[in-house]
Amino acid sequence: MHRTFFRTLSLLSSRGQGTLLRRYFDWWHRRPDPWNMGTDAYEQGKYAATLAQLPDHPYRRILEVGCSEGVFTELLVKAYPDAHITGVDISERALRRARERVAEAADRTMLLSADLLTFTTEHRYDLVFCSETLYYLGRRDRLRLASARLTGLLAPGGVLVLVHPWPEARRLHHFVDSGRAVSRIGELVETSAHRPFSVSVYQAPGRREGSAGF
Ligand SMILES: C[S@@+](CC[C@H](N)C(=O)[O-])C[C@H]1O[C@@H](n2cnc3c(N)ncnc32)[C@H](O)[C@@H]1O
Repeated sequence: MHRTFFRTLSLLSSRGQGTLLRRYFDWWHRRPDPWNMGTDAYEQGKYAATLAQLPDHPYRRILEVGCSEGVFTELLVKAYPDAHITGVDISERALRRARERVAEAADRTMLLSADLLTFTTEHRYDLVFCSETLYYLGRRDRLRLASARLTGLLAPGGVLVLVHPWPEARRLHHFVDSGRAVSRIGELVETSAHRPFSVSVYQAPGRREGSAGF
């Protein structure tokens, strides 16, 4: 039912889909932490497993797409004290809470209201996350577009991390897996959890820049 609803929304134009998703997720965030991301042991375990999958690099410019209220953003702020971190979400209401959550790191965080399907920026990132978000995009061409957007945001040598329920992740990560923009360098499939999930890690070709310039 859930998936059918989002698939139906994706029959609209990208713009129409974005408008309705924005309203839907603002409504969904009418109460704080609607998915209990900040308190649920399963979610906390998933975040820890995700961070543990990352290649050990001094990431300087990080992007989190679908950051919601910033629970994982706050972990990134702590894990990478020298990084500048951008969070993007379609819900302005979620972002207001995310800004409060990372207020102590306001000088190196930026939280932007945008739709993954239309988000553009002049920046390229050496670490890009997208977790528990791609299943809202609906039909295949939207997923293909979102996958291209995500890989297009990577700097040379940049790392992309996708985290979604398993085995649905096979479908959700398909266009990244089958394209040439990145290579998969790691995958964790956690099947022992009560909701199995996959953490897929990819790297763009090219040499990573040194820390200067980020
Ligand atoms: C289930 S939450 C996941 C939050 C976070 N990534 C995590 O794993 O803790 C999904 C978030 O994706 C956002 N979202 C959904 N569709 C989006 C889109 N097209 N562009 C940007 N954000 C979107 C929603 O507003 C929501 O905050």
